[in-house]
Amino acid sequence: MRAVVVTDFHTEPSLADLPVPEPGPGEVLVKIAAAGVNPFDWKVVEGAMRDAVDHLFPLVLGSDGAGTVISAGEPGLTDPRFEPGERVFGQFMDVQRGRGSYAEYAIAPAAKLARLPDKLDFATAAALPTAGAAAHDFVEGTGAGPGQCLLVNGASGGVGQAAVQLAAGQGIRVIATTDPDTAALLRELGAAETVDFTAGPTDEQVREAHPDGIDAVIDLVSTAVEIDAIASLLKPNGAIVSANGAVDLERFAARGLRGSNLYANARPATLASLAESVQRGQLRLRIDHEVPLEEAAAALDRIKAGRSRGKTVLVVDADQGRQM
Ligand SMILES: NC(=O)c1ccc[n+]([C@@H]2O[C@H](COP(=O)([O-])OP(=O)(O)OC[C@H]3O[C@@H](n4cnc5c(N)ncnc54)[C@H](OP(=O)(O)O)[C@@H]3O)[C@@H](O)[C@H]2O)c1
Repeated sequence: MRAVVVTDFHTEPSLADLPVPEPGPGEVLVKIAAAGVNPFDWKVVEGAMRDAVDHLFPLVLGSDGAGTVISAGEPGLTDPRFEPGERVFGQFMDVQRGRGSYAEYAIAPAAKLARLPDKLDFATAAALPTAGAAAHDFVEGTGAGPGQCLLVNGASGGVGQAAVQLAAGQGIRVIATTDPDTAALLRELGAAETVDFTAGPTDEQVREAHPDGIDAVIDLVSTAVEIDAIASLLKPNGAIVSANGAVDLERFAARGLRGSNLYANARPATLASLAESVQRGQLRLRIDHEVPLEEAAAALDRIKAGRSRGKTVLVVDADQGRQM
């Protein structure tokens, strides 16, 4: 089968011919129709998890994918059961076994997959797992409620656009950072206010509009150094969630803030509820770049360079790709 692999850290992703993997107990083999691209995919190549777990090379890249079940290993007691021919989506990355979703066939634990609703196409489903689950978990993680004011810092990208919609859908007043070209889209998605991060420091602009402070922040872009200025916008006991491990828990607690570093957990129930929201039109996923599997390396370079205004999807099997 065709798969996009790296042979070591810091090497260029390339197309390889690998055997189709076989599912073990609790695992499902999926014929991938489309794979979703996330910043984490290039971060893995740069060794983001190098100190935490062993990696098996050649390593098939990619976490997110959607496709059709080919076969399933013996399910564990609590595993959902999948039958051949069912349409599924979820997270496939297992760096310790060299497995990922940028391939014609991929294996996921049954516990990381959900069925696709009838009207959801594969490309949209492939774009959903990591960004959607992150947005869901981060909004929940702030504890913000109706009428409270939430800044989404990094709102113009894949996670940010989903977070804006999920928060606004709960009656939270959302301030979204953006470039001028994407401001109208973010307002359409539910942002009550936008802040042009290309025009000046975000913290200064938000402080001017909210001199008494805001209730919560989802920070998708700041480093551990940059996040202090953003956190200074919070009212006492305000909540800040970092997607990039930028919160120093003790220091933020000492400042009277509720800080956390969260990692998306794409549980089947979360995936199913996100898919339902997409199907009902309550969550719009903007796919701003869709290319064939062969162009994975260039697609990763593109999101690394910035200017992501939505999700990137690799079409693995064009015949399945847009089917419902
Ligand atoms: N913890 C987790 O479980 C988890 C899960 C998903 C994602 N993440 C992380 O969350 C981050 C966002 O992910 P994503 O998929 O949404 O990435 P993305 O699609 O690349 O979006 C990032 C967005 O942030 C914008 N941006 C860059 N610098 C900014 C600044 N200073 N102020 C405001 N906006 C700025 C970018 O615009 P430009 O391109 O113009 O710079 C881009 O639109 C990534 O670092 C990713 O690794 C973490």
